[in-house]
Amino acid sequence: MRPEHPEQIVQATLDKYARYINAGLAKLYRFADVMTTEWEASGAVIRDIYGKEYLDCSGGPAVFNVGHRHPRVIAAVQEQLDRMPMSVRAMPRQGEADLAELLAQVTPGDLQYTFFANSGAEANEGALKLARLATGRTEFVAAEGAFHGKTMGALSASGRDTYKTPFQPLVPGFHHVPFGDIDAMDRAVTTHTAAVILEPIQGENGVIIPPDTYLPAVREICTRRGALLILDEVQTGLARTGRMFACEHWGVVPDILTMAKGRDRDDSSHSRRAPGRTRRRTRGIPAGPPDRGGPTALRDYPAGPRQGVVAGHGVYGSRPRAAHNSRSVAARCHRVLQPQ
Ligand SMILES: Cc1ncc(COP(=O)(O)O)c(C=O)c1O
Repeated sequence: MRPEHPEQIVQATLDKYARYINAGLAKLYRFADVMTTEWEASGAVIRDIYGKEYLDCSGGPAVFNVGHRHPRVIAAVQEQLDRMPMSVRAMPRQGEADLAELLAQVTPGDLQYTFFANSGAEANEGALKLARLATGRTEFVAAEGAFHGKTMGALSASGRDTYKTPFQPLVPGFHHVPFGDIDAMDRAVTTHTAAVILEPIQGENGVIIPPDTYLPAVREICTRRGALLILDEVQTGLARTGRMFACEHWGVVPDILTMAKGRDRDDSSHSRRAPGRTRRRTRGIPAGPPDRGGPTALRDYPAGPRQGVVAGHGVYGSRPRAAHNSRSVAARCHRVLQPQ
């Protein structure tokens, strides 16, 4: 039900934005004549407080892959709210275990363990820390133009000065190389490198698809130098590129895979890999705030372990079958995750 005096609510909301949230943002809304507030949504349609309909082309951004208020998601969340909205985290949780099992089934290769976090940035933070722990090394190689989130570690891995410059100095030990350049990667990865972190297809930087040989070569370089490969599938994961995970287009299995946001259904073709094309630029995908949605959309899973709905999560796996030279790294990784 919409309120009787929507204009008063709009004015009051913008005033409170100006006073308590962000004066610049309030100014921008007024300047752009966004003199309304969001009110309700269903499927791909959002309605504002006046009842005007908008087609939601950004989905969150990139979060509501099964649309707004999907009945199965609502039913799962409702069921959990009625039963136990917040976990006390003192006992094992069935929903968390079931979801981790499901993620182990859908992730490539022998990725197995899941660490649940609250956002894509936090999943990447966890991945970087795990790589340090597992390898005993402190350096990372990442790509120019990359986006991995806005917390300090994830921002240090990101390759965009716009986001980084105001917050220098960031976490030391990150080296950036041009995305898609195998020789540069080969020169940058050393025996001090804990991990290489990459988006399989760069999202925020403009949907940039690397040459077909790139990811397999990076996998091989990491294995040869005993470094871990972290693939950030926050933007590309969960069927967004036509495979469950983008790395599957190239048959590459990372040591650590991070994901967040929701499962995609309909817009997977817009960034589907185009054979024979090495780079494709379309539009930048803006980085959103910590998302809400996520893996409950996978099935009718009960609400997640933290706040009703799992927001983001990283999947961490040791890869004993594909260990090659990184067997000891994989073994250590395994030990970290499976303490005796
Ligand atoms: C590739 C990638 N990694 C990480 C993130 C950060 O995710 P979050 O906004 O949930 O922290 C984003 C956000 O857009 C992203 O596109």
